[in-house]
Amino acid sequence: MALTTELGRQLQLREVGGILLQAATVDNWSEIQHFEAKPDDLLICTYPKSGTTWIQEIVDMIEQNGDVAKCQRAIIQHRHPFIEWARPPQPSARNAKDCMVSYYHFQRMNQVLPDPGTWEEYFETFISGKVGWGSWFDHVKGWWEIKDRYQVLFLFYEDMKRDPKCEIQKVVQFMGKSLDETVLDEIVQETSFEKMKENPMTNRSTVPKFILDQSISPFMRKGTVGDWKNHFTVAQNERFDEIYRQKMEGISINFCMEL
Ligand code: A3P
Repeated sequence: MALTTELGRQLQLREVGGILLQAATVDNWSEIQHFEAKPDDLLICTYPKSGTTWIQEIVDMIEQNGDVAKCQRAIIQHRHPFIEWARPPQPSARNAKDCMVSYYHFQRMNQVLPDPGTWEEYFETFISGKVGWGSWFDHVKGWWEIKDRYQVLFLFYEDMKRDPKCEIQKVVQFMGKSLDETVLDEIVQETSFEKMKENPMTNRSTVPKFILDQSISPFMRKGTVGDWKNHFTVAQNERFDEIYRQKMEGISINFCMEL
């Protein structure tokens, strides 16, 4: 998939095993394929724009027993390196419609991903799965189907928004830790959207503009459930619901679509 913008952004994603990836990721593919997790490794397995940064910050806060200063030691990309550029898996899912909206704005501002085109064009790209890191449907379905066979904690962005303390407590238990109530409250506060948007260690403000142009759309954009309603037309919504039913047949996840 090659796309050109008026700014001259022409970037290609490359296909590996049916999934489109950034070229730099493809170059490391043989290394990634041979990665073997140790028993106490923790892997965060999010689809893009599902709250990766949020859960990364929560996990580090838990590891550091809520010590805010320690979590300021480095930017989040260095505290939690991406495996493709590595602990049991922890997938986090977000409803596909909000995910699509978030990914659309991310591709607008991310100068090292293809330009998303218009919203109408991107709608087609997303549902066809021709976006970086593959199809949302395949990702969520794939993890959902194997979650009971492995040591997997499946979290939902929408649950984390509704009751962050309860969801963070699940992560604490999964990590085999126990934290005081006050520490837990501190983690809830420090990992709120408002705090993380202001935090230079999480808001990507240290990434140069020629890579992430936050004047187009901030990396910490809205952090809400239901923004899809401001983007989807009635026709797109109906079409999406039909595609969702077909692709997710047999998968009983009831995503919360608004809060
Ligand atoms: P929006 O674009 O809808 O605002 P990722 O880290 O996987 O790239 O996901 C980014 C999305 O998660 C963005 O969604 C971002 O605003 C949201 N996000 C990041 N931190 C958050 C937090 N602490 N609370 C709620 N949403 C958060």
